[in-house]
Amino acid sequence: MNTEIAGDPAAWWRHAVIYEVYPRSFADGNGDGDGDLAGLRAHLGYLADLGVDGLWVAPWYPSPMADGGYDVSDFCGIHPMFGTLDDADALIADAHAVGLKVIVDMVANHTSDEHPWFEAARGAGPGSPERDRYIFADGRGARGALPPNNWISAFGGPAWTRLPDGQWYLHLFAPEQPDLNWSNPHVLADFDDVLRFWFDRGIDGLRIDAAPAFIKQPGLPDADYGDDPRFTTVKWVGNPHWDVEGVHDLFRRWRALADTYPDGRIFVAEAIVNSAERLLRYVRPDELHTAFNFHFLKAGWDAVRLRGVIDDTLAGFLPAGVPPTWVLGSHDDVRLVSRFGKATTWSQHVADGADELPDLDLGTRRARAATLLMLALPGGAYIYQGDELGLPNVDDLPDGVLQDPFFRRTGGAIRGRDGCRVPMPWSGDAPPFGFSPAGGQPWLPIPEAWAGRTVERQAQDPNSMLALCRAALRQRRLLPLTETQDLTWRTSPEGVLDFDRSPHFRCVANISAEPLALGVDAQVLLSSAPVIGGMLPVDAVAWLSHPARAPQGR
Ligand code: GLC
Repeated sequence: MNTEIAGDPAAWWRHAVIYEVYPRSFADGNGDGDGDLAGLRAHLGYLADLGVDGLWVAPWYPSPMADGGYDVSDFCGIHPMFGTLDDADALIADAHAVGLKVIVDMVANHTSDEHPWFEAARGAGPGSPERDRYIFADGRGARGALPPNNWISAFGGPAWTRLPDGQWYLHLFAPEQPDLNWSNPHVLADFDDVLRFWFDRGIDGLRIDAAPAFIKQPGLPDADYGDDPRFTTVKWVGNPHWDVEGVHDLFRRWRALADTYPDGRIFVAEAIVNSAERLLRYVRPDELHTAFNFHFLKAGWDAVRLRGVIDDTLAGFLPAGVPPTWVLGSHDDVRLVSRFGKATTWSQHVADGADELPDLDLGTRRARAATLLMLALPGGAYIYQGDELGLPNVDDLPDGVLQDPFFRRTGGAIRGRDGCRVPMPWSGDAPPFGFSPAGGQPWLPIPEAWAGRTVERQAQDPNSMLALCRAALRQRRLLPLTETQDLTWRTSPEGVLDFDRSPHFRCVANISAEPLALGVDAQVLLSSAPVIGGMLPVDAVAWLSHPARAPQGR
């Protein structure tokens, strides 16, 4: 295990590779078409063989599923679709038995509108203690008919919805996701109990959903969105409902709670903010342990941008003693091979739509390369389920099956994130590809064309994406990649990223337009495409076993 290499088992999270499980789409144990905990338990061996250190399970709580489970109606339960609390206990025990850590999503900026707290708030009048658990306000204009301010929702439209009694409530996401009032002491105390509930069950950590959203500027002033009135949090500076200073007091409170567990519990922040510098504020020594680095994902397959993000991240995180993390995909993003198969590979967001058909061969080559690059970097990394199979985005799902609030809230203008949430193809030659038992109808249809991408098929093919990921994760444990955070750049031609991680390990990424001569001494440990005659092809990454001479030109 990595932990043994590093010598300090409690520091596992400093270099862990975590696999994101979107439970509805991972494996269906009971044949109802929805993934569940029984299915996940049955495939833990797959994750152990893959070589990841742990899994992060996207929300498994009871939920009306207005936002794929990110609308929680009971923070201390399991959605019946996924199983029971006993199943969760068994999953945690089984995962630990095969050496996998378990991180669970904590979606606490908001609840479901069907949470008993919100139902009580809706029924109680304005000014009631029940309403004070949420953010209610009177409207502006004649008879308060206009929203209290100009804030926008992440899924389109205003961030306010009016109740029949005239008051408005805030929802930075869908109307079915009312924002909690984190200035209310009952909210604080109740969530201390929720955190303990899960920590006491033995989970290793929590992923904090929408971390910059929790605290709003007092007085709820209008936001200045400039000339881009969209929910583009990476661009926001001084926004009154995102990355507001008070949020750090909350995370200090949670860290203190986690630190009462002698064997350690960790937090990872989902904090999409303006810069590495702002992100660092979430991972100060008395706050959250790590944070996803989405700037890496947004850099695309572009040498200058990637180098910039790597440099900024390391310059910020390493002196602070915080391990960086790297992310190439998630349940919120267009699939990696599809993003990388387009003309512009950076900054694509689900909102950009699916107008340009990706070149999947190109995207796959680059995705293989990017995965090797990511796994060679210092710190931890996240792999979204199915990216190890090189699954493409499914952009032609029929309208009738789409469930993402983006689709509903924009009148279909944005198709949303369902295309990256299509269930996993495990085995066989036809849908449901072992996701469900034969005859099962997966909640989103799996394309017939995925017959060549199943786990079963790829496990037999030494050149598959799955084989590459397994080999990379195995090598990562054998190599000294987890012992230090060191990274030293070598001089390299334009479009090439070339660095040493130790005197014995070097990584070269060829993002230029020409094949690259690696040098005669270069001993290739692993490469995303065949290195023939010492030439690293375009859109490829190689791991080299010792410090060969710098590239000798083209
Ligand atoms: C996070 C989740 C996303 C969800 C949103 C609201 O960004 O990753 O899936 O829609 O928070 O909870």
